[in-house]
Amino acid sequence: MKDYVLVTGGTGYIGSHTVIELLNNGYDVVIVDNLCNSKALVVDRIEKIARKRPIFVELDVRDEKKLNEVFSNYNITSVIHFAGLKAVGESVEKPQLYYDNNIGSTEILLKVMRAHETKNIVFSSSATVYGNPKRVPIYEEDPVGEVTNPYAETKVKIEFMLKDLAKGDPTMNIAILRYFNPIGAHQSGLIGEDPNGIPNNIMPYITQVAIGKLPYLHVFGNDYKTKDGTGIRDYIHVVDLAKGHVATLKKLATNPGLVIYNLGTGVGTSVLELVNAFIAANGVDIPYKIEARRPGDIDTCYANCDKAYKEMGWKAIYNMVDCCKDSWNWQKHNPKGYGE
Ligand code: NAD
Ligand code: UFG
Repeated sequence: MKDYVLVTGGTGYIGSHTVIELLNNGYDVVIVDNLCNSKALVVDRIEKIARKRPIFVELDVRDEKKLNEVFSNYNITSVIHFAGLKAVGESVEKPQLYYDNNIGSTEILLKVMRAHETKNIVFSSSATVYGNPKRVPIYEEDPVGEVTNPYAETKVKIEFMLKDLAKGDPTMNIAILRYFNPIGAHQSGLIGEDPNGIPNNIMPYITQVAIGKLPYLHVFGNDYKTKDGTGIRDYIHVVDLAKGHVATLKKLATNPGLVIYNLGTGVGTSVLELVNAFIAANGVDIPYKIEARRPGDIDTCYANCDKAYKEMGWKAIYNMVDCCKDSWNWQKHNPKGYGE
């Protein structure tokens, strides 16, 4: 029986890019996604790029019966768990939705994995678990948990759940990946980030200004303790992030138990630097207005990624010019994202 990697949330932004890297590296993939924040059309785009079609099953990860069927039908040896809701503002308004979806789906997934003796899982955590970091760059051993919104709280709670699981079952291999700020898109321009409504995150906002869908960028604050007063983040090309998952599966194949890695670039970029990089890379203007701070935002957040390099040989290779060009290439060729 063939071995499969199960990718939950595999039609989403990071998941779709990761599925391509998995297929390119010879893995067979089953995607499960309930399409609450993505489109089935993504599977066709993945096939076009990778010249191989992943299996796709539309389901909610909390649907234990259907998930069990997937594990019975395919020999799932590893799971990459992207499925989750991720809008910080929405999580403040609807905390129960976030606890139920993000934590609930992980509990069911782990239960079904246990029933089928699937031992390897990669979990999509976030730099958000570090809250307002006491130092930058941030190292994996720095404190986590002092967070200010339910979305972040779900990531912290799932991390604790996985750490407990690792302690209780030494046969499990668990990777917690803390992503910094993914931007960019596949070089083909066939897949990319397609947020619903007005984007929360900066890069899709910038590309929608560039395409003329939005009039200007709101720069949230220029009174932070940073070089130009605007917030500093660690922007990582989504294809680099995707490749990080392939490296992680290889790491898990060595039976390491629990591992935790930051996936970022190690470089901090301010909002104004990002805007100027986008303008320079693409030759399009991005009008912006400086406005009040967005509640909950922090000054500076960037990673130290030495551990991922030392232990998995992974590091980000794309630079800010690549990120800006690829984000624009995706938006330009898909002005309405994946469409209706
Ligand atoms: P995304 O919304 O594009 O992808 C998530 C996918 O999960 C979507 O396709 C959605 O339909 C699906 N999904 C959600 N709940 C589900 C459920 N209960 N059952 C089945 N499918 C479900 O988001 P993304 O940017 O690709 O993020 C992927 C993961 O990475 C998420 O867990 C997110 O919290 C985490 N993450 C993202 C970022 C970021 O900035 N994009 C940063 C850090 C961590
Ligand atoms: N920003 C603007 N204008 C916008 C959007 C954002 O000025 O329209 C600024 C923010 O103030 C911040 C920076 O751009 O300084 C980045 O903001 P994003 O919303 O793109 O990203 P965040 O760092 O706030 O958060 C993102 C994800 C989180 C994830 C985190 C990991 O939304 O889910 O990265 O670092 F946890």
